[in-house]
Amino acid sequence: MTILDGKKYSEELIQEYKERLAKYPEEIGFAIIWVGNNSASEIYVSSKLKKCKEVGITPYLYHLDEDTEEKEILKLIDKLNKDPKIKGILLQSPTPKQIDILKCFNAISEEKDVDGFAKGSLGNLVQNIPYHVSCTPRGIIKLLKHYNIDLVGKNVCIINSTIIVGKPLFHLFIGEGATVTMCHSKTKNLDFHTKNADIVVSAVGNPGFITGDMIKDGAIAIDVGISRVDGKVVGDVDKESVYEKASYVAPVPGGVGPMTIAMIFENILDTLEKER
Ligand code: GUN
Repeated sequence: MTILDGKKYSEELIQEYKERLAKYPEEIGFAIIWVGNNSASEIYVSSKLKKCKEVGITPYLYHLDEDTEEKEILKLIDKLNKDPKIKGILLQSPTPKQIDILKCFNAISEEKDVDGFAKGSLGNLVQNIPYHVSCTPRGIIKLLKHYNIDLVGKNVCIINSTIIVGKPLFHLFIGEGATVTMCHSKTKNLDFHTKNADIVVSAVGNPGFITGDMIKDGAIAIDVGISRVDGKVVGDVDKESVYEKASYVAPVPGGVGPMTIAMIFENILDTLEKER
């Protein structure tokens, strides 16, 4: 079994992005809006801030109270859309109940939507127009390609149907010539689908959810779950049983997570290149 080492590869990419970003003389600002105190978001946000500094991007964190109203967020997004030093805006998901997150995602201007969740970005993806693609799906495909894994004709099972992971990833895999089954919380006989898959992508957030008996010999397991158990970050994959059967595993931590962050910078570079 080979580990798909997203940590190592993302570090190489960060060096490359740092050099490309250094060619822009202006300040490159990146706004992160984080509402409330979700513990998984805390992990993501702190890593994003750290990597921004490493790559030469100025992060602007707007950490807002749990009870912030939607109109305040829309006002902030409007201000950031108009601010020329801000090249990318990210609203961390999930947001508290009073906020219609899709309305907020859709308020982010297309060129600053480096998360790729607004209607326009998702429409571009479906129409195969290259621009901002959501970072986790983009990072997964980039990691598989880095290891020269051929995706043509592969059976892929994605367990997640959100716009953050499942839906954009579905389109990326289809674009690569794979056959994709998208599963979710109401899927019956999940094992039937996972056992048929050459590649299983799990973004459930349930520690140990994917066990060795759910996958076929030689399958590729991509872990996108993030949970905390006894203070440790753990994924969906039950390492003990899955590592015995899989050919490749993108683990948690150190697999897809660091790739997601690197892809933000790739999306910001796309904005800068388009601006020129
Ligand atoms: N929550 C989990 N992953 C992501 C992501 O890639 N972007 C945003 N905005 N929120 C997330």
